[in-house]
Amino acid sequence: MCGIVGYAGRRKAAPLLLDGLKKLEYRGYDSSGIAVENAKGEIQAVKAKGRLIKLIELTSGGENLDGTVGIGHTRWATHGEPNDVNSHPHLSEDGRFAVVHNGIIENYLELKSFLTDKGFKFVSQTDTEVIAHLLEYYFDGDVLDCIRKVLNKLSGSYALGILFNETPDVFYAIRKDSPLVVGLGKDENFIASDMPALLKHTRNFILLSDDEIACISGTKVVIYNKNMEVEEKKPFFVDWDPETAEKGGYPHFMLKEIHEQPKAVRDTVMPRIKDDKIVLYDISLSAEYVKSIKKINIVGCGSAYHAGIIGKYYIERVCRIPVETDFASEFRYRSPIADERVLTIIISQSGETADTLAALREAKRLKSRTLAVVNVLGSSIAREADDVLYTHAGPEIAVATTKGYTTQVAALYLIGLYLAKTLDTIPQSEYEEQLKSLKNLSDNITKLLEKPEETQYLASLYYKNKDLFFIGRGMDYASALEGALKLKEISYIHAEAYPAGELKHGTISLIENGSPVIAVAVDKRLFEKTLSNIKEVKTRGAKVIAVASNENRAVENEAEHTLYIPDCHPLLAPVLTAVYLQLFGYYVAAVKGCDIDKPRNLAKSVTVE
Ligand code: BG6
Repeated sequence: MCGIVGYAGRRKAAPLLLDGLKKLEYRGYDSSGIAVENAKGEIQAVKAKGRLIKLIELTSGGENLDGTVGIGHTRWATHGEPNDVNSHPHLSEDGRFAVVHNGIIENYLELKSFLTDKGFKFVSQTDTEVIAHLLEYYFDGDVLDCIRKVLNKLSGSYALGILFNETPDVFYAIRKDSPLVVGLGKDENFIASDMPALLKHTRNFILLSDDEIACISGTKVVIYNKNMEVEEKKPFFVDWDPETAEKGGYPHFMLKEIHEQPKAVRDTVMPRIKDDKIVLYDISLSAEYVKSIKKINIVGCGSAYHAGIIGKYYIERVCRIPVETDFASEFRYRSPIADERVLTIIISQSGETADTLAALREAKRLKSRTLAVVNVLGSSIAREADDVLYTHAGPEIAVATTKGYTTQVAALYLIGLYLAKTLDTIPQSEYEEQLKSLKNLSDNITKLLEKPEETQYLASLYYKNKDLFFIGRGMDYASALEGALKLKEISYIHAEAYPAGELKHGTISLIENGSPVIAVAVDKRLFEKTLSNIKEVKTRGAKVIAVASNENRAVENEAEHTLYIPDCHPLLAPVLTAVYLQLFGYYVAAVKGCDIDKPRNLAKSVTVE
């Protein structure tokens, strides 16, 4: 996720662009850049690695850049390390086009080789640069026709701002799947990734539909649809306060990020599935090495550790390779057994957690091959691991991870399925069925998010409880662990997760009349056993909330309430279970009035041991 802005009007563009980017820094902050165009059509671009302040200092707050039309970008790197060259805007070789982009061009590799064959020279490792060269390649006098041709070549998600030196008083904006709004001012007009960046200038906005081309000057905004017909758009007025707007209208970043999960999972999975095969183009696990693996260690902290447990169950099922999971803070103290034939998977959203970084270094000391699953490009863990599989969740602001977790689990599915295919330990029909379900995960999350009232209602029943129990078997146990952590982190209610079969060996002594027990009963294979555990706690007075799959409807006879996940391959269900339990934890904390985005005692990334 990155932030883009654009301006055309009567004022100096650069200071306004920088001001807009300041409001969008939460969308990405590893590097930034602006490009402005003066009346003679000269385009000046300035880019800088690091926080926006670096660019502000470099351009003296924008004062040393002339021009009343411009575009700007604050980056969340997905392709190519954060550095000056990879920062946006990207320019065409002839310098006539400048482009800023938020999103992922899924077919950029093939476009890059197409353009390289045509003689174009690439200077960055980004996907975005292909857009700048495609504009130059297709331009033959009609800039709108040229943009339309480029859009027809792109697959993936994009919000674009484009400068063209032959139209110095106009810039162009297009979106597909990535957010972009047009702000209508007085003798000036704007674009931004979302409204907070513009609220100080205007409260009148137009929302672009996918693949419409907006031609924006200071005096007018003309929008062309796919057939290049002019679209009349009715502006709407926004009375959000800037603080609320930064959260996209959600009351908390956490709820916003829960709702970003369909896109985050799609952006993590889809670029790695080509012609119904998994292509992990960003890691180099050769078939020969994969066949030599005798054991896999998976290491992480907090939710990343829970994702690792899902990964363990999954990889052992589909690859038949032994998998061990460790809390990162424990790993290096147990004299772990590792060598060249052990693959250590290191999971970390931030890529900076000290315990996890220390575990990575211990694994490398033992000569283990290390594969990091990380969300932040260029982070310490990403840089030090032998291979990195990036999740594309975008910046996660809330301390309690949601999209960070589900994209980690999705990444582990990709890895497991890739290994199983390489090892030939999965029948083709099963491979295809799981691949299909993996591609549908995003839509299934959307279905879950369409009915929050169920979890809101349950939260209203149980928010006063002092203790909650989570139980489950197999992968459902790992989901129970994550659900309990989510509730604890943000609502401060004591919650513990137990393997459903383990409760009777001691802890069931805590169950008394009215004790709330959340039973994750999704796995059909283990359902009868879990059902008997549910009966055990019920006979001791527990009130049971079940999370189940549609094939396990018998649970309704025992549970007070049942939440059903949409149908999916049973091994992929934990991603959907997680969404229900995130919402439950969120609404409990919300009704308690907790500081949800910044819970007491917690940090987004603990960079001390
Ligand atoms: C904790 C966070 O501090 O660190 C958790 O509160 C997170 O939400 C854990 O799962 C690990 O963080 P990371 O960035 O290494 O995944």
